[in-house]
Amino acid sequence: MSQFLRALPKAELHVHLEGSVPAELAVKLAARNGTPLPTSDPARLYRTWAGLADFLVTYEAVCAAIVTPADMAEVAYEAQAQAARLGNVRYREIFFNPTNHPSMTYRQQLEAVLDGLASAETDFGIVGRLIPAINRSQPVSVANDLVREVIAHRRDEVLGIGLDHDDSVGPAPLFAEAFALAARNGLRRTAHAAEAHTPGQITDSLDVLGCDRIDHGYLALADAAITARLRDEGTHVTTCWGTCCAHNPGRSQADQPIVEMTAASLNISINSDDPPMLGTDLGSEFVAAGLAMGWTREQGIAMSLAALDGAWLDDSDRAALRRSFEAEIAAL
Ligand code: ADE
Ligand code: ZN
Repeated sequence: MSQFLRALPKAELHVHLEGSVPAELAVKLAARNGTPLPTSDPARLYRTWAGLADFLVTYEAVCAAIVTPADMAEVAYEAQAQAARLGNVRYREIFFNPTNHPSMTYRQQLEAVLDGLASAETDFGIVGRLIPAINRSQPVSVANDLVREVIAHRRDEVLGIGLDHDDSVGPAPLFAEAFALAARNGLRRTAHAAEAHTPGQITDSLDVLGCDRIDHGYLALADAAITARLRDEGTHVTTCWGTCCAHNPGRSQADQPIVEMTAASLNISINSDDPPMLGTDLGSEFVAAGLAMGWTREQGIAMSLAALDGAWLDDSDRAALRRSFEAEIAAL
């Protein structure tokens, strides 16, 4: 079963570019650019995190190590190479935090990431699309400027915007103007909400920011009305098995919030969030989730296809990708 789950073709809707830097590469970039990391020992850089805030300190340090367009392209290429090799990932919508790299303009970053993604697509057949994400710990003016830049340098590969960082800071309504601007310009919208702190961020992300997906959402379960709403509206929730377990270390695998979300008939996909930082990859996420929930082969297949339903693809591209997934699954 583990082999089958690893071999399934996969799509991923919740993964951070800067959280996808292998430890060795992060250490190399920091040394080359003279930026500080908590340690220069790759074996100790990505450790067990004492909560989201602790994790984000290292995440931001890794962001700061990515200084030049060449760094950005290398990170994008490596992230996709790993995903294709370790999890048979075929399609990915990837967050990145442009405002965490002040040494480059948005446009420089975009071109470099697209270069890396294109090379990886050629070499490994994995497609990458982008979601520039607002860092909610930074000022609102920074978010508004970012969305203006995204609109000024519009590319088909950029599907929408996100909102990430610690959900106990930067309440969703602060970013209403940035999200409204994105909406008026045809950008899709999603937000990290109820990951580690406040279930109410889900309602605000839907009603104030106009999101059509929610990232994480584990704490929805603390509020029956929010859970019922997500179910009744069929809102796609991009869950991440390893992140969820990291936030709930006292709970057994079979008792994780994602198990309850599935039992509550929420519309979820399984994603890897920050794979090397969490010691995971999408193949391992499928294996861990599948074993914890006792998936049959059919349930594994359904989860592989669920991400396609939540993807920000147009209907003909979605249908084409689904056909290629179904053909590959039939041959497994
Ligand atoms: N940025 C990178 N990973 C994140 C996470 N799990 N939550 C919030 N922001 C993030
Ligand atoms: Zn995330």
